[in-house]
Amino acid sequence: MVEKELMIEWDKKYLIHPLTHPRHFELHHPPRIIVEGKGTMIKDINGREMIDGFAGLWCVAVGHSHPKIIEAVHNQMKKLPYFTSFHGMSTPPSIELAAKLVSMFDPSYNLTRAWFTCDGSETNETNFKIVRLYWALQGKSEKYKIISRRFGYHGMGMATTAATAIFPFHWNIDPLPEGFFNVAAPYCYQCEFDKTYPGCDFECLTELEETIEDEGADTIAAIIAEPIIGSGGVIPPPKEYFPRLREICDKHGILLILDEVITGFGRTGKMFGHEHWGGIRPDILSFAKGISSAHIPLGASVIRGDIYDTIGELQDERMPLMHGFTYMNHPVACAAGLANIKVIEEEGLVQRAAENGKYLLEGLETLRKYDSVGDVRGIGLLTTIELVADKEKKTPIQPENSAPELVVDLCWEKGVYVRSSTMETVSIAPALIIDRPTIDKIIDALDKSIPEMEKRLLKK
Ligand SMILES: Cc1ncc(COP(=O)(O)O)c(C=O)c1O
Repeated sequence: MVEKELMIEWDKKYLIHPLTHPRHFELHHPPRIIVEGKGTMIKDINGREMIDGFAGLWCVAVGHSHPKIIEAVHNQMKKLPYFTSFHGMSTPPSIELAAKLVSMFDPSYNLTRAWFTCDGSETNETNFKIVRLYWALQGKSEKYKIISRRFGYHGMGMATTAATAIFPFHWNIDPLPEGFFNVAAPYCYQCEFDKTYPGCDFECLTELEETIEDEGADTIAAIIAEPIIGSGGVIPPPKEYFPRLREICDKHGILLILDEVITGFGRTGKMFGHEHWGGIRPDILSFAKGISSAHIPLGASVIRGDIYDTIGELQDERMPLMHGFTYMNHPVACAAGLANIKVIEEEGLVQRAAENGKYLLEGLETLRKYDSVGDVRGIGLLTTIELVADKEKKTPIQPENSAPELVVDLCWEKGVYVRSSTMETVSIAPALIIDRPTIDKIIDALDKSIPEMEKRLLKK
């Protein structure tokens, strides 16, 4: 391996970092190079051991370097590292993972078909094409629009960027694909309509219904929604929200794509995030991240059997399903996914996330003592604190985004990795295996970092 100084120089010189300002990074931030990971701990190039309070990117569910996943990957690598699944070809791990996945849902939902991608963006790109195909084959090609919610994040392909309604992602890359638009999220802390739950009568859903009426239900293919918004600021909805959203979809004949890329596989203290919301029935599910604990890139799309059957019946006999990526149903990735799900089940990690998630949230609640901590929210091990300059007015600390970024940097100095987002939040989402003493250390780092941030940015 190249020596440390050269590694840092090459990183600055050659490597492009996503979601990182090119100039700002070069000038102010030495690259933080991680060389090892074990459980909830990571080690950087300087040999410093740190707590990973964010499971990489809310994805390493079972912790870093899980031996059972490594073994499964190693074994599959030795046997068959790759074969295509185009043209009816197949491999055992992808078949087994599809069968396993569909067995995990309420049978009455009829979610009986699965295929696998490399990530959440490919999964949602795939899902958008499937819903358009489904309607078009039924003679409804004008039913192509996709509705998402503001603060929803669905990926970084062109269509998925259009569906992602966090607007800095849209800047300077126009034109985005046509047919994507968004409605309000159930973001009760800063309600767009200045209402307060539960007296609000869900104006966010009224806006959705009005939008459906304005556009025409016969032009809308699907609504895509995260059961708990993640990257857009960790926003759990009120419990009535999703059942009502499902009713609206049913009333207007619109498909519901639930994007469980973050919330799937135990993160929220249930195996799937939608289980929190009174058994709402998804038509299509999107997965990635926790499905393989990111040991190998893997995403999945699970669809209702009758949607698949309709496509099969109506598709021209001589025309295959005209969609596919080279790495779809990748045997090594699927072997990792199978091993990962087995670990989550055998080690009782869903229950553990529920219990330790409560403990984490209680710890975070104590941070409300600081003037800048406007809100604390989350479910399971999916949590956030929202920082404000003024608790009454809920205005952001200036310059925007500087407060969460500074808190993240200060925590890093104290040996804890957490993540900021453009929504003035600092999010904490550790691996599901985290224990309480490690949670205490994360809270302690935040407890020390927030007043330091206030001193610098709010001149306290
Ligand atoms: C809810 C959700 N959907 C989709 C994606 C896109 O996934 P990926 O980054 O794996 O393409 C993400 C990524 O964070 C996500 O949080």
